[in-house]
Amino acid sequence: MTGTVMIIGASRGIGLELARQYAADGWRVHATTRTPDRPGTLGRLIGDLVLHELDVRRADQTTALAAAVASEGIDLLIHNAGVMDRGLSSEEVMAINAEAPIRVTQALVDVVRRSREKKIVLMTSQLGARYGSKRRLGTYGESKAALNDRFRELAPTWGAEGLIAIVMHPGWVRTDMGGRGATLSVEESVTGMRRVFASLTAAEHGCFLTWDGRKHAW
Ligand SMILES: NC(=O)c1ccc[n+]([C@@H]2O[C@H](COP(=O)([O-])OP(=O)(O)OC[C@H]3O[C@@H](n4cnc5c(N)ncnc54)[C@H](OP(=O)(O)O)[C@@H]3O)[C@@H](O)[C@H]2O)c1
Repeated sequence: MTGTVMIIGASRGIGLELARQYAADGWRVHATTRTPDRPGTLGRLIGDLVLHELDVRRADQTTALAAAVASEGIDLLIHNAGVMDRGLSSEEVMAINAEAPIRVTQALVDVVRRSREKKIVLMTSQLGARYGSKRRLGTYGESKAALNDRFRELAPTWGAEGLIAIVMHPGWVRTDMGGRGATLSVEESVTGMRRVFASLTAAEHGCFLTWDGRKHAW
């Protein structure tokens, strides 16, 4: 099956591999980058690919993105953009990892609702799970935990609108963020996640899932 996918944060790492695999499989791909004038590898991908400019903190660019796709349906919206806390203030990490995914998704909900599949994926991390641990989550973990909390508040509304939305842990992946010592290649992580996205039904709506299809504790 093919359809239309939008990947928020596709310039490198997991987002770039998502764009590559979906485009290679014949999907229409809307990919966002902060630097569409210097797209690098993203600009050389082969397929039905449309690039959009988006820094997820920019409300004006978010509005322009929603307007650009207003006449289309987005079957699968993946909010992938995220940052570690290296060199950034906790306010910046919160703005990018916790607030932006919700705000950008809210701006695009109508376009997703108009599609056949109506699926939304927000990229979180197992480092944002609060369960059974007294450990400090740290700035990055707190930002992903805040995203998970907000997602759980909104999930009933989105479910009532017929959407199928999840938060996803992509595994520990060899990207700029995950580092060279991580256990998974981007190809393995993205291949696994795409399998999970393809098989999502209303039964999984509101869940925290991992790249290989397991349920993760909150
Ligand atoms: N890698 C892992 O092991 C791992 C594990 C758990 C969760 N995750 C999550 O998976 C997602 C992707 O991670 P990754 O490993 O692919 O990271 P990455 O290689 O560091 O790539 C991060 C992506 O996010 C984009 N981004 C960052 N800040 C942005 C902003 N303000 N506006 C728009 N885009 C922005 C980057 O764009 P630029 O190129 O413009 O900076 C880049 O495309 C993140 O949400 C991350 O938290 C990753």
